[in-house]
Amino acid sequence: MDVLLGLQWGDEGKGKVVDYLAPKYNVVARFQGGPNAGHTLEFDGIKHVLHQIPSGIFRNKLKNIIGNGVVLDPVVMQKEIEGLKKFNIDFKNNLFVSKKAAIILPTHKLLDAAYEKSKGDKKIGSTLKGIGPTYQDKIGRVGLRVADILAKDFKERYDNLVDRHKSILDFYQYNISDLPSLETVFFEAIEFFKTLNLVQSEYEVNEALAEGKHVLAEGAQGSLLDIDFGSYPYVTSSNTMTAGACNGLGVAPSRIGEVFGIFKAYCTRVGGGPFPTEIFDEVGETMRKEGNEFGSTTGRPRRCGWIDLPALKYSIMINGVSQLFMMKVDVLNVFEEIKVCTHYQLPDGTKVDRFTLEQGDQEVEPVYQTLRGWNSNLFDVEKYEDFPDELKAYVSFLENELKTPIKMVSVGPDRQQTILR
Ligand code: GDP
Ligand code: IMO
Ligand code: MG
Repeated sequence: MDVLLGLQWGDEGKGKVVDYLAPKYNVVARFQGGPNAGHTLEFDGIKHVLHQIPSGIFRNKLKNIIGNGVVLDPVVMQKEIEGLKKFNIDFKNNLFVSKKAAIILPTHKLLDAAYEKSKGDKKIGSTLKGIGPTYQDKIGRVGLRVADILAKDFKERYDNLVDRHKSILDFYQYNISDLPSLETVFFEAIEFFKTLNLVQSEYEVNEALAEGKHVLAEGAQGSLLDIDFGSYPYVTSSNTMTAGACNGLGVAPSRIGEVFGIFKAYCTRVGGGPFPTEIFDEVGETMRKEGNEFGSTTGRPRRCGWIDLPALKYSIMINGVSQLFMMKVDVLNVFEEIKVCTHYQLPDGTKVDRFTLEQGDQEVEPVYQTLRGWNSNLFDVEKYEDFPDELKAYVSFLENELKTPIKMVSVGPDRQQTILR
């Protein structure tokens, strides 16, 4: 099984690359996260954003699996599938959902909002899709799973959990007047959900591997949002790293093959938390405009900054990345100079190249090296040799620093705007 994951704070372009690589695979599987993800695919003039459904869905003869590590909102699922109707996708044969995946209830979304509100200016900047509270219930061993919706007493199990949630919401004095209407939609979506292929996905994946089939695990979010290794507490609530693919699908570590690490030629972050290379002037504004850096799930403007090598080295280390894919280089076409953060400077003046962005850590200042920009468009580029020399120098510089081969460079959002090396 190969794993593809984001090495920064999410939105690196995972959806595009999974869709691009999918024809080489028999199975594409999501292993964590849920509707907080927004994975964009562009091909044949179509642009589509997927939230819970794996990005192999537009390719024929391929199984898409949603693994046990995912948290699923049935309402989002129904909307997503309805939104895909026009593409005549054969969901009966190409979409499978783990019976062990956790279910997001309407009250999980209210709790998400209540917790965020209570944090004031320390809020995480959650997507408010109910991700944190649902994982909390999973770890607390009180949550509901997909299998529960098939039980005769599902409503009773639901009511028990919602009673708990109501007492917490009451503690936070959070207004729950929307709940009845949210519940109506939720229970309709549950009926729809029952018509999907609900399976023991660990068998689906392992049997595919035993038959010599090729499986691609599709990460959501990014390593710097990992619950353990990210910029805690400004993170998401799952393990977004390679190890998460083992937990989230039931696949042994020894079965991991290639690990594809995706990164932008610069860096973005949406939501709160530290971001040492963030740019606050017109350069950052230009990046946001050129890169169309607005959230695929929430539409929020993304914070933009230069590439951060200490952070990337860290992500490569914890994930065992074997190949790098560099995304969105075209966004830097307009710049005469490109900055690269090679180190952080601590308040006492020492320079480090370790990632240290947890709460309680000292503030760090990025130390930059400046490279020449190529300052031209990449319209005619069809192969790596066509790249301007400055861009080739940027790629080589990064490869040298990161000690990992950059095997793919993406020069636009379309499936075809992909250059292999
Ligand atoms: P994901 O969450 O990692 O799948 O990434 P998103 O879909 O949230 O955000 C990536 C955005 O960049 C999407 O709008 C993509 O269509 C777009 N994109 C992907 N690759 C490229 C690229 O090489 N160049 C440009 N300009 N846009 C890209
Ligand atoms: P994809 O898969 C970028 C961020 C949120 C917030 C923090 C916690 O499209 O790359 P959560 O809703 O999980 O409780 O939010 O994580 N976040 C993402 N940022 N891309 C994502 O997914 C994200 N999913 C969550 O903005 O800061
Ligand atoms: Mg995204």
